[in-house]
Amino acid sequence: MSELERLQASCLYEIANCDSLKKLDMLKSAVFGKNGKITEIMKKLRDMDGDEKRQLGAAINSLKDEIMEKLDEKFYELEMQELDKKLASEFVDVGMPSRPNCFGKIHPITKVEEEVAHIFSSYGFAFADGPDVESEYFNFTALNMPDHHPAKTMHDTFYVHKLADENGRKLLRTHTSPVQIYAMRANEPPLRCFSIGRVYRSDYDATHTPMFTQVEGVVLEKNIGFSHLKWLLSDFVKKFFEVKTVQMRFRPSFFPFTEPSAEIDINYEMRDGKIIFGVGDRWLEIAGGGAVHPNVLKYGKVDGEKYQGLAFGFGIERLASLKYGIPDLRGYFESNERWINAFGFSHATR
Ligand code: PHE
Repeated sequence: MSELERLQASCLYEIANCDSLKKLDMLKSAVFGKNGKITEIMKKLRDMDGDEKRQLGAAINSLKDEIMEKLDEKFYELEMQELDKKLASEFVDVGMPSRPNCFGKIHPITKVEEEVAHIFSSYGFAFADGPDVESEYFNFTALNMPDHHPAKTMHDTFYVHKLADENGRKLLRTHTSPVQIYAMRANEPPLRCFSIGRVYRSDYDATHTPMFTQVEGVVLEKNIGFSHLKWLLSDFVKKFFEVKTVQMRFRPSFFPFTEPSAEIDINYEMRDGKIIFGVGDRWLEIAGGGAVHPNVLKYGKVDGEKYQGLAFGFGIERLASLKYGIPDLRGYFESNERWINAFGFSHATR
């Protein structure tokens, strides 16, 4: 075996068996460094000439190339291994819940909000939002309730400031319908969007609380009408209650911002203090809706000649009461531990 061949064999063996980047670095300088093995052999060229020199020179060059290539491969391999080790030791579980599973319960409102959002997203509705502290203009005027409109008295409004600016007085929104106006102004039709948020009215009994949660939906399309709304709301109710048929009552109704308008009720019965939906002859109103009034389209800056609008609103607590048998709306906001233990959802079953 020639000297070069021995060098080749030992280098390749050492590279193949090297197990750390540090050792590989040392190996590299032991071969290519100032006093490295290749450098030593190169020195011999000085005392040679002619063919001998050329041959040895070529042989050294190809050995250099071969060792360099193997070193590069090994560097890459060891770097990957060290990276894997580092990643494994620094593993962050992005799917880990931010709260431990055993801590507390999921409030039925949160659960139902998620269910509702899931269903409307599946219809291609985007999420839209508006502020809780509204102005008279967006809460009433832009929804076709000008000053002194009798419909204003339907709402027992909490005003938060006596002073008015160009949008009127500030108030806690009495419904999520102002979001319709924001959504219309911010988007070119066609439009499908929904919103979920808190609303406030001065009202308090078993079926009314001063703060509650609404879902708002608005659709703008060419050639749509009331029948589409009826289909949409029926389909939503079936999906939400996870049933093939459900008893619903569409009652002709009145809202200043829709024409025609309807209210939707679902039947239920009380059994042992629990609500059982789909049986019995009691009705709970869960939604209102209709075709968007032309004046509202105007306030939303929508071309009412080209596009029709549909809008609807649901009460989240009422949906939750019917689906999960929760009898009294007041319990939702009382922060009673026994209540949340009875009606809350554990994280594991989500
Ligand atoms: N805003 C109405 C309410 O609070 C519900 C509704 C929304 C009705 C959209 C029609 C259209 O009762």
